[in-house]
Amino acid sequence: MEITSKLPHVGTTIFTTIGQLARTHNAINLSQGFPNFDPDPQLLELISEAFKNGHNQYAPMQGVLSLREAISEKIERLYGPYYHPESEITVTAGATQAIFTTIAAFIRPKDEVIVIEPAFDCYEPAISLFGGKIVPVALEGNDFQMNWTAFKSAISPKTKMVIINTPHNPTGTIWSESDMLQLQEILRDTNIILLSDEVYEHIVFDGKPHESAAKYPDLAERSVICSSFGKTFHATGWKVGYCVAPKPLMMEFQKVHQFNVFSVNHAMQIALAQYLKEPQHYVNLGSFYQEKRDTFLHAIKDSRFKMVPSEGTYFQLLEYSAITDEKDTVFAERLIKEHQLASIPVSVFCTTDYDKKFLRFCFAKTNDVLEKAAEILNSI
Ligand SMILES: Cc1ncc(COP(=O)(O)O)c(C=O)c1O
Repeated sequence: MEITSKLPHVGTTIFTTIGQLARTHNAINLSQGFPNFDPDPQLLELISEAFKNGHNQYAPMQGVLSLREAISEKIERLYGPYYHPESEITVTAGATQAIFTTIAAFIRPKDEVIVIEPAFDCYEPAISLFGGKIVPVALEGNDFQMNWTAFKSAISPKTKMVIINTPHNPTGTIWSESDMLQLQEILRDTNIILLSDEVYEHIVFDGKPHESAAKYPDLAERSVICSSFGKTFHATGWKVGYCVAPKPLMMEFQKVHQFNVFSVNHAMQIALAQYLKEPQHYVNLGSFYQEKRDTFLHAIKDSRFKMVPSEGTYFQLLEYSAITDEKDTVFAERLIKEHQLASIPVSVFCTTDYDKKFLRFCFAKTNDVLEKAAEILNSI
């Protein structure tokens, strides 16, 4: 039988490849973005109660109402606007599904989608699968700044969607109010949909605010905003997230969602609804991870790597041009094989040529692991 792949250029993801290599070489793994510690025992207890209390059959298609209400309250409290729990919120199987379903719901063949690169790896294959064309706009310089002139000139009559991500994986940069206002201005009076990936919304450092698209009315009216309980509650393996959007966009989203996933783990939603009611469970996440970032950076301050402290997410980029000229993929592989430390080369987040010298390290790890990793980095 002959199979013609719809995604001929897609192979195993870099996370799988690096993960396997890290295991083979018994390396400390700071590559994939997940914590090496458990969620709050209180949340685990709530989940176990929810299972025991019989929430073991299908949940409503949009998600458990009490969870949608808790999400709506959280957004209103943090960012201002009210999303109606009945019609403007869907609980999803992680943010990945929210992103995929949004792209499936709106992208037709030849539609253009502006992606700001480096970009998280799930956007591109989903766009390609539905026949869309990726129009990459590169973040510039070693501080990965947005070039708004380049962004503006990337927009064409075929632009259907723009995907943004703040706080940003892999660079650890965040967008300011001025960035959001510029985006709002450029998109004003267009029919462009904004897909705003905000999975790290609660992991922002140094007292800065998270600039959600929800805070900007002209952006919010065209936005599907995605978030992830996996990131917020140290539980990436649960794959529960959500998205919010104005009713007309959400109606289209749910048309796809109901035949794609239909509904998400019921007991977990019941537990998350209760847990989310208490803002203390997420408002301190930024300071929790800031301490980890600072521990990591302090421990490697005398190394030969250059670093600009991450502003958000649980990733830190390290620049290695003082050490070698090697391409990032080559250096990342050598770090695993010769030094037993795994990271992710930033070029894998780009569809176009990229030759900067950065590796991404995940610092969502216990301090003993961060210190061991630091010892290795200091020895290179
Ligand atoms: C920027 C970004 N978006 C989306 C996701 C996916 O989130 P989830 O695990 O909830 O599917 C991730 C996970 O690494 C991410 O870094």
